[in-house]
Amino acid sequence: MKFFIDTANLDQITMAQSMGVLDGVTTNPSLMAKEGITGKENILNHYKKICDIVDGHVSAEVISTEYEGMIKEGEALAAMNDQIVVKLPMIKDGVRACKYFNDKGIKTNVTLVFSAGQALLAAKAGATYVSPFIGRLDDISTDGLNLIAEIRMIYDNYAFDTEILAASVRHTMHVIDCAKLGADVMTGPLSSIEGLLKHPLTDIGLAKFLADYAKGND
Ligand code: E4P
Repeated sequence: MKFFIDTANLDQITMAQSMGVLDGVTTNPSLMAKEGITGKENILNHYKKICDIVDGHVSAEVISTEYEGMIKEGEALAAMNDQIVVKLPMIKDGVRACKYFNDKGIKTNVTLVFSAGQALLAAKAGATYVSPFIGRLDDISTDGLNLIAEIRMIYDNYAFDTEILAASVRHTMHVIDCAKLGADVMTGPLSSIEGLLKHPLTDIGLAKFLADYAKGND
């Protein structure tokens, strides 16, 4: 499973990259705003900085909600760097734009997906990635992981190439459950990745090893 980090924070991206387990980055307008990055030029420059830190795909979201605007924005984003994946909302014009970019060989991530039907449409339109938001479904008492299982079954039934990018991952158990269900990618905060490191027996075992080593070197 690929690990993407879901942030626009350069320090966190650098930290995840330094662990050697990072495969890419996802961003969205809210994550940019959280870092104080506003205005078209600043946002484009920020994408460049992110691409300089990581080796993999960087999802950059369009702001337009109509077809022509999405094409214009997406083409400009894709022209910036080969790592850029154009992130499109799951609306009719987003699906049309996805098909357009697929025909042009430009990578896409269809975002704000909350149902199996939406994921099927994204795959039919040739999306590189589909982003089902599991945390936001959990937030409204709907099983987000069940959606990952449904999409996995549908994509496998028809051998769709679209990668399932489990998004809105909130914690470490989401990561593990998505891996069990066969999600191709997960995107979550740095804490969801670092949480995988933790086990009390590891800490206890290491403390004991170090204490025993120290005894022999008194
Ligand atoms: C996906 O690409 C989104 O940026 C993201 O995962 C949304 O997560 P949230 O529901 O925690 O805001």
